[in-house]
Amino acid sequence: MCGIVGYIGKQDAKEILINGLKRLEYRGYDSAGIALLNDKEIIIKKSVGKVQNLENKITDIEDEFSLGIAHTRWATHGEPTEINAHPHLDCTSKIAVVHNGIIENFNILKKYLIEKGHKFLSETDTEVFAHLIESNYKGDFLEAVLLSLKECVGSFAFAIVHKDHPDTIIAAKKGSPMVVGIGNGENYLASDVNAITSFTNNIIYVNEEEVVILKKDSYKFVSFQNQKLEKQVVQIEADLQNIEMSNFPHYMLKEIFEQPHTISNAVRGRLNFEEANVRLDGLYAVVDKIKKAKNYILAGCGTSWHAALIGEYLFNNFVRTNVKVEYASEMRYKNTYIDDSTICFFISQSGETADTIAALREAKRREATCLGVCNVVNSTIARETSSGVYLHAGPEIGVASTKAFTSQVSVLTLISMFIGRLIGRVSFEEAYNTLKELSLLPEKVEKILHNSTFIENIAEQFYKANNALFLGRGINYPVALEGALKLKEISYIHAEGYPAAEMKHGPIALIDENMPVFVIATKDFLYDKVINNIKEVKARRGKVIAIANEDDKEIQKSVDHVIYVPNTIPVLAPILNIIPLQLFAYYVAVRRGLDVDKPRNLAKSVTVE
Ligand code: G6P
Repeated sequence: MCGIVGYIGKQDAKEILINGLKRLEYRGYDSAGIALLNDKEIIIKKSVGKVQNLENKITDIEDEFSLGIAHTRWATHGEPTEINAHPHLDCTSKIAVVHNGIIENFNILKKYLIEKGHKFLSETDTEVFAHLIESNYKGDFLEAVLLSLKECVGSFAFAIVHKDHPDTIIAAKKGSPMVVGIGNGENYLASDVNAITSFTNNIIYVNEEEVVILKKDSYKFVSFQNQKLEKQVVQIEADLQNIEMSNFPHYMLKEIFEQPHTISNAVRGRLNFEEANVRLDGLYAVVDKIKKAKNYILAGCGTSWHAALIGEYLFNNFVRTNVKVEYASEMRYKNTYIDDSTICFFISQSGETADTIAALREAKRREATCLGVCNVVNSTIARETSSGVYLHAGPEIGVASTKAFTSQVSVLTLISMFIGRLIGRVSFEEAYNTLKELSLLPEKVEKILHNSTFIENIAEQFYKANNALFLGRGINYPVALEGALKLKEISYIHAEGYPAAEMKHGPIALIDENMPVFVIATKDFLYDKVINNIKEVKARRGKVIAIANEDDKEIQKSVDHVIYVPNTIPVLAPILNIIPLQLFAYYVAVRRGLDVDKPRNLAKSVTVE
């Protein structure tokens, strides 16, 4: 998390950096800061809160600046105050540093630097790096940075400027993402391409342990050992329309409403009805591995982990081989059994989640076949896996993931079907029917979205709740988890998801007349049991809101509200059932007057452990 942007060139850096920061705000938004340089001076401005506050602070600066670096922060070390906001300076106030990641040995370094007489102002780990460069600086900026990098343990992306070198930005990457944008007489730096695609489409991805020396007319890459590196410029397509809000009040609502389109994109060109099969170019390369695979692991964090849980049910259904779901953050330290007959799928919208990357590297070390299920093209996970399947959902900006989730589940359906067909576990008929139903989902999602006012009205009745329970069984249990996560992420209401039958083992104690209980009650072989669970809630005077199939009129008698969704086959029901829960969370948060796209304490891309 934290977003970095840098600019050097013929235009005034101020506007470009603020524009870039706004596009990176999803990475953190508790404070922001900027360092601006020209031949005369270095100016540092910081503010607490959103980038807009920083912009307000610099509007009265009339001078133009040919280079600068800027930062939007998600606090790790030290509260979100102006002092802790980046950039951080050395004792001479000549060196300014912005940083994403964690310098794990900062305490030792800080102690050592204090003993040498350095004065620290903030509680951050980042400030250490500015002082390290100062202590290593003998007139050669690059040499000082390289020496300082050698002393840092952890994961980081840095951008650094030095007042005595007003023609250079130096950036370094180890563990946290960084891209360089190449312009004409100007160059850019950013934590992700979205921050700079409105300025240039020519991108260079900075790899692990690389340093870039950026000037307005040139760039040079070296390794941490100062070996010159040749880099490839890639042309990326600017997806500007997708990163605008269009006419929606929030990105989250826009992204919820995009789902008919994004689900179509996830399956487009991949359904082969003639052979009742799935085309996935990214899996053809590992067909031999799949044939020999003894076990599968699906790993991710947050919403991606919920998609993985649904994936487990899909694998059970179509692949019928050992499959485990792992929190990526746990997997990296757990002695999960992995060998060269294991296939791991790393599921990540951003492709930059630090824990998922670490789990991937550990699985690779143990010789598993590692595949990515990512949305962001060319992200770290996409690059570090041998191949995989993209979601093609377009940029997701709202911190609470919505469209990526339904795309992940759609893609996991394709993957499990591909494997199931390859190893002969799924009949032609079952495959054909599943794919047919999958292709019908976009219009069914559209139908649910048409009902959004009804869901808004339900939100109006419950927006003051302090707690909420979400229940589901079988493949809909992860949907309950995801519904609860959406509500807590953006409305700060305490919400829990449970397998409906587990309710009796604890959560039932919480139920009273004030407790809204969402029950996913679409038709499958567990339907009657779910109805019994509803009765148990009603017997304790809980308020039940059921998600049910449109032809299930009977259920109205047992519950307080019913949100109807179109019928589909049970394995695909999660993709429809989550939509009303996303909308409910959205409308509750709006009604509570909260910032839906930038919920407190969260960040879209968690690039620290
Ligand atoms: C953060 C985001 C979540 C997301 C999770 C995993 O916590 O706020 O919305 O689900 O990271 O992110 P990934 O990009 O790996 O899917």
